[in-house]
Amino acid sequence: MAKGLDVGTMNILSAQQEGNETVFVQQRNSFVEIEYSDMAEQMLSRSDVLHIRKDDKVYVVGDDALNFANIFNKETRRPMKHGILSSDEKSAIPMMKLIVEQVVGSPNYPNEKLYFSSPADPIDSELSTLYHEKTIGSFLDDMGYDAQPINEGMSVIYSELADNDFTGLGISFGAGMTNVCLAYYAVPVMKFSVARGGDWVDEQAAQATGTPVDKVTSIKEEDFELDFQTDVGGVEGALSIYYENLLDYVIENITKEIDEEDIEEGLDVPVVVTGGTSMPDGFTKLFERHLEEANIPFSISGVTHAEEPMYSVARGGLVAARSDEDEAGTGDDQAEADDEAEAASAED
Ligand SMILES: Nc1ncnc2c1ncn2[C@@H]1O[C@H](COP(=O)(O)OP(=O)(O)OP(=O)(O)O)[C@@H](O)[C@H]1O
Ligand SMILES: [Mg+2]
Repeated sequence: MAKGLDVGTMNILSAQQEGNETVFVQQRNSFVEIEYSDMAEQMLSRSDVLHIRKDDKVYVVGDDALNFANIFNKETRRPMKHGILSSDEKSAIPMMKLIVEQVVGSPNYPNEKLYFSSPADPIDSELSTLYHEKTIGSFLDDMGYDAQPINEGMSVIYSELADNDFTGLGISFGAGMTNVCLAYYAVPVMKFSVARGGDWVDEQAAQATGTPVDKVTSIKEEDFELDFQTDVGGVEGALSIYYENLLDYVIENITKEIDEEDIEEGLDVPVVVTGGTSMPDGFTKLFERHLEEANIPFSISGVTHAEEPMYSVARGGLVAARSDEDEAGTGDDQAEADDEAEAASAED
């Protein structure tokens, strides 16, 4: 068995194997606070609305938060910012706990292996990922998992570069961050993050055009393309400008962080890009073009786009957890549990 979990600034997803299929469960990493008195009791009793009641407040969490926010004219809030638990949000921890529990479910057996994604420390801010990583790890251990963090960029390599001996450069363009990892034969040799991603693009484009951020985000997610055909002056024009700026910023930092010594001689490095921010048509081409134009100290064999950019990180966690479980000669706990059950029923 074993599971993978992508703990993202905007989306939390789990992955597990069921027969030949990988099954994903996803929730928005978001919540809204509503006065209990405003709430029709029956709206909440719809059994699948994730919520917690605390005194006279109700917190609706995950995918339903946005619907409830619209109905009650409230703002949604987010437990994470720039890839880690937000220090500005006092309710972050209980909200995340609820979402994580819903997405990942109970372990199938005690100490089931679970790999959860964690960002690399950002090179452009003072933020540290330690507290975030330990907090998420402790929720999962309390639930009965054997939880291990996995670097988000490394997770991309597990998911997308299996056919290349887990060797190459993986880049996850998320909401709060962009994570970069270079690995040889599944060993990370260089990893970093920058505290910029889709949220940054949205905020910049909103500010430049005087448009509410939520509006910008929905324009971007609906039918925005990076084709540079759009009129100057509109939201799409601004999105293109900040997208291009984000790509250059990431490439500049790759150039700074990767030394020639990091690269095996004679190796052409395959690059794979993924994450929600990589979704617009034209993204991968644009990134490849800018990478070619940049003065990077190594040669690249090609840039590919993950087939399912929203699922890469969770899938990579699952691949890592399964291979760890196999190595440990398991699911021992599973096998033991089965043996015990058999022995117990034989005794009856
Ligand atoms: N179709 C789309 N076009 C453009 N952007 C999109 C699209 N779908 C989602 N996004 C953007 O992708 C981002 C979310 O991506 P993702 O789920 O990979 O991030 P995350 O893992 O939650 O964040 P992080 O890794 O930074 O913590 C958001 O900025 C969202 O607006
Ligand atoms: Mg992510």
